[in-house]
Amino acid sequence: MDVPWTSIFIRFVLLLFVLEFTSTFKQTGTCYFPERWEGSWFQSGVRQSILIEGPRLSSKGRCVGSEGDKFLLLDDKKACYRCVVIHEKHLNVLQYKETYCHSRELLPSLCGLITGDALLYSMFRENAVPIPCPFKGPFTFTYNRGHGECRYPVSSIDTCIEDSKLLLSYQACPDVHGSESAIEELQCLALWKEGSSRYLVGKIYHSHVTSNEDRYRCFVYEKASPSSETADPVEYRVAQSGDATCNGLFSAIEGSRTMTLKRAPPLNRCRFPYWIAGSNRWHSLDYSSTYSFHHKNSTLRITNSTGIDMKIVCVQMKQSSRDESAVVLVTHFTMGCQNGYVCMAFYRRDANVMEMQMGTQTNRREDACNSNFFDKNSIPFVTLVMPSIDAQRCPFAGKFDITNLVQNKRETAAGKAEEIGSGSFYLRKPGRSAPFRRVKRLDEDLDCDGFGEFVVGCSNYYTMEFTTDCSAPDLVTSYSCHGQWEENGTSFLITSPEDHATYGSRKFCFIYKRVVAGVMFSTSAENCNRLVHPGVTGELVFNISSKGKCFDTDASARAHPINAWLIAFILFSSLLSAAAATR
Ligand SMILES: *[C@@H]1O[C@H](CO)[C@@H](O)[C@H](O)[C@H]1NC(C)=O
Ligand SMILES: *[C@@H]1O[C@H](CO)[C@@H](O)[C@H](O)[C@H]1NC(C)=O
Ligand SMILES: *[C@@H]1O[C@H](CO)[C@@H](O)[C@H](O)[C@H]1NC(C)=O
Ligand SMILES: *[C@@H]1O[C@H](CO)[C@@H](O)[C@H](O)[C@H]1NC(C)=O
Repeated sequence: MDVPWTSIFIRFVLLLFVLEFTSTFKQTGTCYFPERWEGSWFQSGVRQSILIEGPRLSSKGRCVGSEGDKFLLLDDKKACYRCVVIHEKHLNVLQYKETYCHSRELLPSLCGLITGDALLYSMFRENAVPIPCPFKGPFTFTYNRGHGECRYPVSSIDTCIEDSKLLLSYQACPDVHGSESAIEELQCLALWKEGSSRYLVGKIYHSHVTSNEDRYRCFVYEKASPSSETADPVEYRVAQSGDATCNGLFSAIEGSRTMTLKRAPPLNRCRFPYWIAGSNRWHSLDYSSTYSFHHKNSTLRITNSTGIDMKIVCVQMKQSSRDESAVVLVTHFTMGCQNGYVCMAFYRRDANVMEMQMGTQTNRREDACNSNFFDKNSIPFVTLVMPSIDAQRCPFAGKFDITNLVQNKRETAAGKAEEIGSGSFYLRKPGRSAPFRRVKRLDEDLDCDGFGEFVVGCSNYYTMEFTTDCSAPDLVTSYSCHGQWEENGTSFLITSPEDHATYGSRKFCFIYKRVVAGVMFSTSAENCNRLVHPGVTGELVFNISSKGKCFDTDASARAHPINAWLIAFILFSSLLSAAAATR
C-alpha cells in the first residue's frame, strides 16, 4: 500500500531467512506487550473493547514469543497460533496486520504468511487523553461528500476553550446533493506522519452520533503551500474517513469527505476601558468568580468554581461616557465549544469597584446590544472588586442605636430559600433567646441585651462595628469599608469582614438609605442587588438611629458600667468622708 509496508515485507523475508536457520522465536515462553499499550482499545467491527494487559491481547490470546513489532500469540481455546505485527502510530493508535490461526507445524514461517496487501486494522485507545489539534481556528471551509463542493454558504470551524477541540459548523448548499447543515465537535486524539501524509484521529460529538463506530474518524491533512497570488489562500486540505478506520485514506484530496480550509477574517477588536485593564484581575464579591484581562486589553477570561471558563473578546464599542467610566460593548464569547455574541456593560463605581451587566447570547453580532438581548433596566449587576482593594474612610462616623435587626433567609439563585446559619454568616455565636423581638437565630445562649450599638469610624476611620454589652469579646463583628457610590438616594458600600480567618477575602454589599430618623440598612452577599429595599428586604436588615458622636462623653457614660462604679465609688467615698466628719 505504501512505503513502510514494503520495507516491512523486506524485513519479513529477512526474518524468514533467520527463522529457517536459528528459530529465534521462543514460542514456549511468555512475552509481554509494552506497558504503555495497556488498557482498553476500540476497533471498528469488534463489539467489545480489546484489552491489552501483560501478555494478553484479549480475544486473540497470550503472547508466547516476540521480536520487534511481531508478536506470536497462542489462542488458548482453539490451541492455535497466529502472528500479529503491531505498529504504534501514536500512544493512542495501534495498527496491526495478522495471520489466520494456524497449528504448531507452521510456526517457523508463520509471520511470513502476512502479505503486503493483508488488511490493516486500526485500534484507538478508549478514554485517551486528548491532544492539541494540529490546526487552530477560526477557519471558513468548503466541503465535498462526493456530490460536488458545498461552497455557498461557507461553513466554519471555531476554536473551543480547550485546544484539543474544534467546532465544525457545516452549512447546507441548496445546489449540492447530500450537503446538510450540522454542528460537530471534533476532539483530537492522535497525530502521526507517514511518508508525506499527516494523519489525525479524532472523536466526533454530534447529537445524532452515539456509538464509537460513528464517533472515531481518521483524517489525512496537508498544509497548503503558501501562495502570494490569492488574497485569501487555502491553508489546509483535509480528507476524512467514512468509518472508524484509516482505510482508504491516501491523500488529503480523496476521502469520504474532503474539506478545504481558509483562515477566517479576523474579528474586529476593540479594547476594554483603560481603568478595567489597570488591574488585570477582578473578583466577584464572594470570590467565586475571577475576571482577568489579557492580550493588550482586548480579551477577558471569566473563571468560576464550576470550572467552566468563558473567553470574551471585545469586538465593538457601542456607547461610552466621555471618561469611559460607563461603556457598552459588543463582545464575542467562547464557552466550551459554544460561541456567539453578547452585549456587556461596564461601570466604574469607585477606584477599586466596578459593576458589569451581561446580556443574552446570540449568533448575530448585530443583535447583541438590541433591547431584546440586552435590557439595561432589568439585567442584574455583577459587582466586582480588585484583589488589592484598600480600606477607605467609612461614609459617616458616630455611634448608633440599632432599633431593629432581622436576619432573613437568603434567596439562592434557583429561587429556593436557604437557611443561613448564624454561626457562619454575619454574626458568630448561635444562642438561646432572641435579644430582639424580631431577630431570628441570633445569640440565643447569651444572657444580655444583644447588639447595643453600631459604631462607625470611631476606633479608626475605616471600620464599622456591631458591639454588644455582653462580655464575650468575639461578638464584636467589624467590617472594613471599601468603595462606595450613590444612585438616586440609595447608597452602596462595599465592606469586608475584618475576620479574614473565617471569611477570607470575601466582600459584602451594604445598601443603605438615610432618612430623618437615622439610616436604614440591608446587606447583599452576591452582588449589590438593586431589588433590595434598605431596611425592608435583604439578608441582614437593620435600622439605626444616631446616639452621638464617637467621643460623646454623655453617651459613653450611659453605656459603660465603669462609670457606674465611678459614681458608686464617689458616693461611697463621700459617705466615708461624711462618716469621718461626724466622728
Ligand atoms: C492596557 O491597559 C493598561 C492599563 O491601563 C495600559 O497601561 C496598557 O497600555 C494597555 N495596553 C494596550 C495595548 O492598550
Ligand atoms: C459559572 O460560569 C458558568 C459560565 O460562565 C455559568 O454558566 C455558571 O452559572 C457559573 N456558576 C456560578 C456558580 O457562578
Ligand atoms: C432615579 O429616579 C428618577 C426619578 O424618580 C428615575 O426617573 C430614574 O430612573 C431613577 N434612576 C435610577 C438609576 O434608578
Ligand atoms: C426600618 O424602618 C422602616 C421605616 O420606618 C420600616 O419600614 C422597616 O420595617 C424597619 N426595618 C426593620 C428591620 O425594623
